[in-house]
Amino acid sequence: MAVISDNCPDIDVTLVDKDKNKIDAWNNKDLSKLPIFEPGLKEVISRNRGKNLFFSCEIKQSIQEADMVFISVNTPTKIKGLGAGYASDLKWVESSARLVAEYSEGHTIVVEKSTVPVRTAELIQEILGESKTGINSKNNKTFSVISSPEFLAEGTAIKDLENPDRVLIGGSDKVSMNLLKEIYSRWICNEKILLTNVWSSELSKLIANAFLAQRVSSINSISALCESTGANIHEVVKAIGSDKRIGAKFLSPGPGFGGSCFKKDILNLVYLCRYYKLEETANYWEQVLFINYWQKKRISSLIIEKFFGTVSNKKILILGFSFKCNTNDTRESPAISISKDLIDNGAQLFINDPKVQKEQIEIELEIKEFEVDELSLGSWNFINDLDNVPRNIDAIIVLTEWKEYIGINWEKLCSKMRRPAWIFDTRNIIPKEVIKESNINYWQVGKSL
Ligand SMILES: NC(=O)c1ccc[n+]([C@@H]2O[C@H](COP(=O)([O-])OP(=O)(O)OC[C@H]3O[C@@H](n4cnc5c(N)ncnc54)[C@H](O)[C@@H]3O)[C@@H](O)[C@H]2O)c1
Repeated sequence: MAVISDNCPDIDVTLVDKDKNKIDAWNNKDLSKLPIFEPGLKEVISRNRGKNLFFSCEIKQSIQEADMVFISVNTPTKIKGLGAGYASDLKWVESSARLVAEYSEGHTIVVEKSTVPVRTAELIQEILGESKTGINSKNNKTFSVISSPEFLAEGTAIKDLENPDRVLIGGSDKVSMNLLKEIYSRWICNEKILLTNVWSSELSKLIANAFLAQRVSSINSISALCESTGANIHEVVKAIGSDKRIGAKFLSPGPGFGGSCFKKDILNLVYLCRYYKLEETANYWEQVLFINYWQKKRISSLIIEKFFGTVSNKKILILGFSFKCNTNDTRESPAISISKDLIDNGAQLFINDPKVQKEQIEIELEIKEFEVDELSLGSWNFINDLDNVPRNIDAIIVLTEWKEYIGINWEKLCSKMRRPAWIFDTRNIIPKEVIKESNINYWQVGKSL
């Protein structure tokens, strides 16, 4: 929405959230304290905030004044009730639709921006339709619901929004679709703005994420085979990626995908397939999640095995906690499960991340900093400055591909390690040459030792 305000100075964009702390943080004068870290975001906010971009908790007034309302709320996997563990929880979409139904005035275009299961637009339409006939109805209200799912990737969100591969607008009301198209076309060429029916639009978002996640799981499964056979994953990636039909992008092996979307969207797809009795299709996509789970477990197990089956009392430095670089988002980060496994095996972790706050790590690991796990005696603490890494560390694990880690003084860090020492690079970002000390063992994903 901030990028819309940046490209359309004549349009007032108001972002509302029921969470006052979030809105206060978005209004913070200190732009380094915005709730989300994204390259280029604070510049966009500083150009437009207070001019045509506003952050507010005044939901009622903002809806009353709006010609177009984007519903961009969270749609996490249901944890209880019908479809628990698979289906998306639509209660926040539903409550947003009810707010629009209650407060809107005149004609309102409702844009479904959240990632939702197929036919959610129907649910929104029904709620809005009720408001025209219900007890509290004001009959002058009319609505048009269209779908425009978001394809940005965290870490490159601003670039993706400024120069998207495509924008999708799904619906049947051509007038509303064209009005939204007119907004996007201020900075995106018409050929990239695809108009579809509403269900194609909703389904395309789930399928795009499923295909992306599938590529990650495919290459991660092959990383294990490379380690066993002596093939080198980089050479394999180059060889297969040169085939135009396969393409070179999104083929980096790693500790598994994270983020708030891939897992939940595939679960949602699996649920949808089972609902339509397409068991084989559901099983096929579910395997993408299984491989992702397995890759994380495989990495924590091999770390423990390299220490002859025990990391109890071992000091381990974890480099990176966000699920990928250039974001402070830790949702579903592979660092969570790998760190938990090591703590459960008695390790003492020192965790560093350039953008993730220690309070966030505390929430994800469900154990406080310095607290000692009763059973395993494992623990963790946050290391803000790598100069303060203690002596005698046994292992370093690179879990996020932050470019800061490439430029570390590796010689100095290695000099603090107790032998036998291990470096585990799950992102393949540290060139072997920088580990000058020959008696430090070095493991890289997809390469045999
Ligand atoms: N994060 C991404 O990279 C990304 C990319 C593409 C699509 N999406 C989709 O966008 C949607 C939002 O994702 P997110 O990561 O921003 O979620 P989020 O949980 O970070 O933010 C959602 C916000 O909605 C607010 N909210 C919920 N119900 C509300 C209501 N009734 N009124 C006002 N505010 C309400 C919450 O307080 C929260 O701040 C999801 O459907 C997601 O799948 C996210």
